[in-house]
Amino acid sequence: MSLKSLPKVELHLHLEGGAPPAFIRGLAQEKNVDLSGIFEANGSYRFENFTQFLRTYEAACTVLTGPEEFYRLTKAVLEQSAEHGVIYSETFLSPDFCGGGDLTAWREYLDAITRAADEAERGTGIVLKGIITCIRHLGPEQAKTAALCAAETMGDFVTGFGMGGDESVGHQGDYAYSFDMAREAGLRLTTHAGEWGGAASVRAALDDLRVERIGHGVQAIEDPALVDRLAEDGIVLETCPGSNVALGVFPSWDAHPIARLRDAGVKVTVSTDDPPFFHTTMSDEYDNLAETFGWEAEDFLALNKTAIEAAFCDDTTRESILKKLEAQS
Ligand code: ADE
Ligand code: ZN
Repeated sequence: MSLKSLPKVELHLHLEGGAPPAFIRGLAQEKNVDLSGIFEANGSYRFENFTQFLRTYEAACTVLTGPEEFYRLTKAVLEQSAEHGVIYSETFLSPDFCGGGDLTAWREYLDAITRAADEAERGTGIVLKGIITCIRHLGPEQAKTAALCAAETMGDFVTGFGMGGDESVGHQGDYAYSFDMAREAGLRLTTHAGEWGGAASVRAALDDLRVERIGHGVQAIEDPALVDRLAEDGIVLETCPGSNVALGVFPSWDAHPIARLRDAGVKVTVSTDDPPFFHTTMSDEYDNLAETFGWEAEDFLALNKTAIEAAFCDDTTRESILKKLEAQS
């Protein structure tokens, strides 16, 4: 079986980060916005480091001006995901990009996104759930607005809360109020940590935000005692190796710690993060894992089972995805 058609579970995908460059260029033309500075001559997104990546990302988001744009974005992203075998996906969504934290506007964006997700599910079977994220570099006060939006709209689609953005700004614990609010509302929790912030930021995510999953978390490899703790406590890492290599967190796939973490008993999963930005897809991730570490069908089945067991979905959805994984293994 080709790895492209292998059924896959993806837990870490930023919805705006899934926007193909041609999609953003098209919207910029429709709206007469000059975004030429964020594209290379060959049409791909332009950035040379993480700070520039965040700037390019945010500039691209300026043409996602309303619910209709997010409807179209969701359709485009899910079509791509399904083409690469994804049968279940969790996407990060930020009220900051969807109405600026206004609750009424946020509900309108969510209606458009869930309409697109329902249509995609009817078309290809792909299931989408939403993890609402605050953006770290916008600060703890703005994060409270995101948490409130998440808590108010928790339900069948909105099932989790998390944090992305620039890990060099502030500390995980500065956002504890928002994570507590989300936890009390019944949302499941994850946060970006240990992408740039070192093993200490992973510890802080566990101690100060009490999350059950970590976005990236790969810098934990620097600290053997932390690796043991992750393994013992069953903390799930949403690793995104292609993203890490593209952004220079690790110099190559060979240097990526995913296999070492897995061998140490840590629950690892694989996702794309922002696929068109990093010239990756879920099939590319799997192909690279097969080529670099010799992973085979049984490794991928185990990886996907770990992912769906850690997914922020209801048990009926979990059972149905598990059956699909097992049927095609
Ligand atoms: N937002 C989108 N992609 C991100 C990443 N890789 N790290 C932090 N925030 C992000
Ligand atoms: Zn991410």
